Amino acid sequence: MPKFNIDGKEYEFEGKALLLQYTFGTEVEIPYFCYHPAMSVPTNCRMCLVEVGYQRKNRETGEWVFDENQKPVVDWGRKPATACNTQVSEGMFVKTRATSEVVKTAQEGVLEYLLVNHPLDCPICDQAGECPLQIWTYKYGPEGSRFEESKVHKPKRIELGPNVILDAERCINCTRCTRFTEEISHSHQLTIISRGDKNHPSTAPGVSFDDAYSMNVIDLCPVGALTARQSRFKARAWEMNSTPSICNGCSKGCNTYVWIRDNKVIRHTPKENLAINQYWMCDAGRLNTEQYTENRVSGVKLKGDIPVAFESGLRKAADLIKHHSKGRILFVGSPYASAESNYALKELSKKIGKDNEMVFVNHTEKGWGDSFLRRDDRTPNAASCKMMGYKEVDAHFLKEKLHLFEMYIVIEDDIMLKEAGEILSHKPGIVFASHYFEESERVEVLLPAAMHIESQGIYVNEQNIPQYVRQVKEIRQMSPEMWMGLSKSRLDKGAVYKDKWRDIENVFDVLPTWHMIDKIAEMAGINLGFESHKEIFGKMKHDYEVFKTMKFSYKIPKESFKNTQFEFAIT
Ligand code: SF4
Ligand code: FES
Repeated sequence: MPKFNIDGKEYEFEGKALLLQYTFGTEVEIPYFCYHPAMSVPTNCRMCLVEVGYQRKNRETGEWVFDENQKPVVDWGRKPATACNTQVSEGMFVKTRATSEVVKTAQEGVLEYLLVNHPLDCPICDQAGECPLQIWTYKYGPEGSRFEESKVHKPKRIELGPNVILDAERCINCTRCTRFTEEISHSHQLTIISRGDKNHPSTAPGVSFDDAYSMNVIDLCPVGALTARQSRFKARAWEMNSTPSICNGCSKGCNTYVWIRDNKVIRHTPKENLAINQYWMCDAGRLNTEQYTENRVSGVKLKGDIPVAFESGLRKAADLIKHHSKGRILFVGSPYASAESNYALKELSKKIGKDNEMVFVNHTEKGWGDSFLRRDDRTPNAASCKMMGYKEVDAHFLKEKLHLFEMYIVIEDDIMLKEAGEILSHKPGIVFASHYFEESERVEVLLPAAMHIESQGIYVNEQNIPQYVRQVKEIRQMSPEMWMGLSKSRLDKGAVYKDKWRDIENVFDVLPTWHMIDKIAEMAGINLGFESHKEIFGKMKHDYEVFKTMKFSYKIPKESFKNTQFEFAIT
């Protein structure tokens, strides 16, 4: 394999590689602002400067030349080069700031220039704590500023669109945002206007930046120039815990980080997964934060909206099952629920009733999807319902066919419950729901279901890729296995809370549906063959090919905590 040299150490490479991209994931750090692996390379920030040289070759023999100490003779370039557009080649020698005074001075100069007109907003800027300009100035910048004139003032708080606010003074003109609308979302809504030290991004006059993917520019921006209307000034980066997860807004299953404070979701940001969402997610998925706190069912309710202890509620459900165990039962699975919960319901359907039917309601919104990430199927797990044998129906099925069944059991489908709640009140049944719905007080037993970020679970996306989703939010009844699965930034080594902003108001009394089904079955004298998450995971793995390659692990892999837009760790 061909070799090249960075700071005196040899590296191997294959094919064509750009130097900056090559260093990602190695111990070599080259600071940068404008480069992004998914977009064109404009080389306009000049932060990634390195010294580049090539080992001399004997023109006649074509052999490498060495000096009397057998060290390669290198012809260094006359000035530093940008690592982001320099192709790695055999016999190349590179000096980064670790070994080159020239690079150090050049990068210090670049930062000094970038900061000439940059306001000293860090104490009130949303980007502080995760800002490449702040981090690299702190690491590599000049000690202080020599600039004594007044800074150039540019427009502030510009509403570029419904979700993105621009503070033009903070912009360093890297063009990451404008390139995103040109090359990735293709809306072409942003461009850089004005000249010299007055320039900044803007839309055309009268045009709103309403691209369905507009908020990706917030993550792309290496400074705090672009902020989210929804979450700006709500929390500092270091006050939030972030955990890798997925979006439940459609069947694409984009990978995300969920950021919480006070056990409340403050924001979602995309997590890199080149096979699914690359580096991006849509605005609708990002804005879906209120669903985790508003109108939540917390604790068990019996008919008439009567709150009862968990144990009594589960026992009531078990009694109902025992009473109707010889009858025809309708099992309604859910494309919102985890594979585990759908599996547990399916296993229960095998053990009780006769001539049962297993269905799930399809939630396709024609025209919502596009050719990029959004999909018409607005649910994250329809694939596992289909795989487990649930028949796909629409909400009318319940209205028309419910009278044919003696009893029903419905899990985690709020949209269907909203439409069919009234019908359900005519029959005995058990509903596992995360949100209240119309007539919810009229069902026999209403059990509080944990949402996808409140428990561990597997979701299979439209490409048939199973994704293991972690617990992000604490619930009231935490088991030791749940504590183990939670993002470790919440507990220190002595198992003491690190999260100073925990608010009990946002901790709901819910449980994973599969766990409640198992408990109810046990109370009804039925053994489903699993008790822990590990056991149900093992059974699913045995039964379905798609889960075979998955590994069970409570721990979140360290590499999951990575800033997807810049190469430095976020925790
Ligand atoms: S607003 Fe941010 S992303 Fe856009 S050009 Fe300025 S610094 Fe770059
Ligand atoms: S010039 Fe290389 S990252 Fe900006």
